[in-house]
Amino acid sequence: MHTLPTLSYAYEALEPHIDGLTMHVHHDKHHQAYLDKFNAALSNYPELAKLSAEDLLWHFEDQVKTSAPADIQAALKNHGGGFEHHNLFWEIMSPNGPREAVGELAAAISSKFTSFADFKTQFIDIAMKQFGSGWAWLVLDENKKLALYSLPNQDSPLLSKHYPIMGVDVWEHAYYLKYQNRRPEYLEAIWNVLDWQKIEDRYQAGLTK
Ligand SMILES: [Fe+2]
Repeated sequence: MHTLPTLSYAYEALEPHIDGLTMHVHHDKHHQAYLDKFNAALSNYPELAKLSAEDLLWHFEDQVKTSAPADIQAALKNHGGGFEHHNLFWEIMSPNGPREAVGELAAAISSKFTSFADFKTQFIDIAMKQFGSGWAWLVLDENKKLALYSLPNQDSPLLSKHYPIMGVDVWEHAYYLKYQNRRPEYLEAIWNVLDWQKIEDRYQAGLTK
């Protein structure tokens, strides 16, 4: 059984940028719901249940599609994705981290996007253009190069063996209580709580995945 991670900071620690009520509802209700449905879908598939959510999505083609029927595949893709993506989201935010890229990732971002500021502009643009629910992603692609795109719903970069370094949730549940329909304000505020040391750690993990 997968379990809900506890936050490494208080629910209110990201205020005023992400409010405590949103954090409570997002973590305790939405994330919990993905987890419960993910575990339910795994209940008759003990071999798949042994995998981490990350590995289950990474090996979806060769392990899930060969051992589960279509309805279970869909549940694992949607709820496994939702579970894993929120694990990542809580991990890459903090009240105190560096607010721009550090280490080798800083150099890689400058190489790919000219500057951190240009990267931020492109990221926000992609997140704005995601129609409806989804996520904007910075990933390491199959050639271990940085790539930037959005995906709908809980479709995971991991399904394409792309390692997610950083992602921003643009489902309305991520921002509606504080920002209502003002997705641009949320997408500006989030940069005040992203922890680029944690994102650098994910970059290093992705290089060796
Ligand atoms: Fe979410």
